[in-house]
Amino acid sequence: MPAVIAGSDATSKLIASSLSGALKARLVEAVYKVFPDGELYVRVPDDLQDPVMVVKTMSPPQDSSIVESMLLADALAGIGLEDIILVAPYLAYSRQDRRFLRGEPVSVSVVLKAFRASGYRRLITVEMHKPESLKYFEGDAVNVSPYRYMADRVELPESPLILAPDRGALRRAMDLASHLGVDYDYLVKERDRVTGEVKIKPRDIDARGMDVVIVDDIISTGGTIAEATRELKRIGARRIYVMVAHALMAGGAVEKLRGAGVERVYATNSLPPRGGELVRQVDIGPLLGRVLRDEGWC
Ligand code: R5P
Repeated sequence: MPAVIAGSDATSKLIASSLSGALKARLVEAVYKVFPDGELYVRVPDDLQDPVMVVKTMSPPQDSSIVESMLLADALAGIGLEDIILVAPYLAYSRQDRRFLRGEPVSVSVVLKAFRASGYRRLITVEMHKPESLKYFEGDAVNVSPYRYMADRVELPESPLILAPDRGALRRAMDLASHLGVDYDYLVKERDRVTGEVKIKPRDIDARGMDVVIVDDIISTGGTIAEATRELKRIGARRIYVMVAHALMAGGAVEKLRGAGVERVYATNSLPPRGGELVRQVDIGPLLGRVLRDEGWC
């Protein structure tokens, strides 16, 4: 019987429980401790059989989330398992997918290679910044797009304009717009590679009097969505809704989005809930279960 092990954090536990329910898989507990010097300790039950799914989202503190998931893989390999699947709803470091400036690492490649080396044979994640980055994981890997699934489970305004905050997010907007049978468009974003500051350039978009749904992979500092919202309001858009896979909400993101006039943010539960009434989460566990079954991984 396939088994699901949750990482030590509340978000991973929630998704693991929903995933095991969807797959009718055994939900098992690992032992987690932190040594007095800050190092992690894990121990898995020694009666497991292949396949085993480790549900561990790479939420902050990202580095210890990554180490914990690697320790779990090695622990499972140590009891003789081979079909070890990492279910990582949020995959940290995926935005550093190239050397933007000379002297930088390709962080996503480092992390994915480390997962493989620690014992994971397969990997499933939700809406990576660029799904092509999964090529760095030398095993089976799947990226799950959540927007259609989310749209069927939340209240969106009638006939909204779907908008990508930059050209990189266009495929997301196209996919959601085609699911809803409505129009889509995109904004043009520039980010200062040193300060991180975001500027949205004006474009001739017909959003006057319209409700808009901005689609993106992630809200981190909130700069992108706040700037896009301001620009849309400037050109006469009515209510602004946001749909993202991952609501990280770093620093003052919630205040930034409220200040810009965002009506509501819909996100998966890949990260801990932040933002009170502004942010509604959709449980991603059942969708992950469906994809794992479709792939024939369990
Ligand atoms: C960048 O290309 C991503 O798709 C997101 O738009 C970006 O990472 C969001 O970050 P922030 O919320 O800090 O603007």
